[in-house]
Parts: sequence; structure tokens; C-alpha cells
Amino acid sequence: MAAVGFNINGKAVSVDVETDTPLLWVVREHLKLTGTKFGCGSGLCGSCTVHVDGKAVRSCQTSVSQVSGKKVVTIEGLSPTNSHPLQKAWVAEQVPQCGYCQSGQIMQAAELLAANKKPTREQIVTHMDGNICRCGTYPRIVRAIQRAAKEA
Ligand code: FES
Ligand code: FES
Repeated sequence: MAAVGFNINGKAVSVDVETDTPLLWVVREHLKLTGTKFGCGSGLCGSCTVHVDGKAVRSCQTSVSQVSGKKVVTIEGLSPTNSHPLQKAWVAEQVPQCGYCQSGQIMQAAELLAANKKPTREQIVTHMDGNICRCGTYPRIVRAIQRAAKEA
């Protein structure tokens, strides 16, 4: 056990855990930020995606010690008022079906728009490729990202 300190959604936190604990469990169980979802636990689905220093990472494959001293952002911290252009576009396009994968989808998409304000359809599809949606909402995800890119 060790104290691991980092910043999450703008707040400094310190957690006492085994240092190889996946960030996903620290986020969900210790910090009670349950918007980030456990899907496969193997880095294959993307439902656990969060940002670490601006990069989209799979939190099930990231140990908490790897984020020591870094800035983590979860879906809860993407926008203080839930009004990130992607969140608005997701509502406008009525993207979610069951909703389970959607936090990860939005966090993955946010990384893209932060780096590339006007992505092509192909760039969107390539960037979102590793995020699985069992409900098959892919066409609406692409439309929502295109809408957000227009309105951002
Ligand atoms: S739960 Fe992390 S990639 Fe599936
Ligand atoms: S909306 Fe159900 S898994 Fe994506």
C-alpha cells in the first residue's frame, strides 16, 4: 500500500491503495466517479476511457501509480456544466441506446477534437475504432462528432 497523489477533474486527491491497482477501480470505488465503466477489463472495448494529461487512455490498463502527479479527467470533469460541444451534440443526435459505452466514446472523441478541430469522416472513424458499442450506435456517434466539430 502507498499513498498516490494526482489531480482528478481539477481536484488534488491522494488515495491509499496497492500501487498496481487499475486506475478504473480507484476512479469508481475510491473516488465514486461511476461514469467511467468497466467493460472488458482487458483494453479491448474503450468503455473505461479517461484522459491522463490530455491523452485518452484505457483506465483498466493503467495502474494508479502511472498517474502519480498527473492530471486525470473523467466524463464527470469534461465540462463543469455538462455542456462540452460533444455532450450537446450527443443529446441532439440522441446517440445512446443502453448508454454503457458512451462515456468512453465521448472521452475518446474529446481527445480527437482537442487535437483536430475539423476532422474528416475517415479521421473520426479511425480515431474511434477501438471503442466498441454493442448497441451499434456508430452512425450516430460519427454524426455527433461531426456536429460538435461544426459547433465548437
Ligand atoms: S474496460 Fe477497459 S478497455 Fe474495456
Ligand atoms: S449504447 Fe449500448 S453499448 Fe453503446
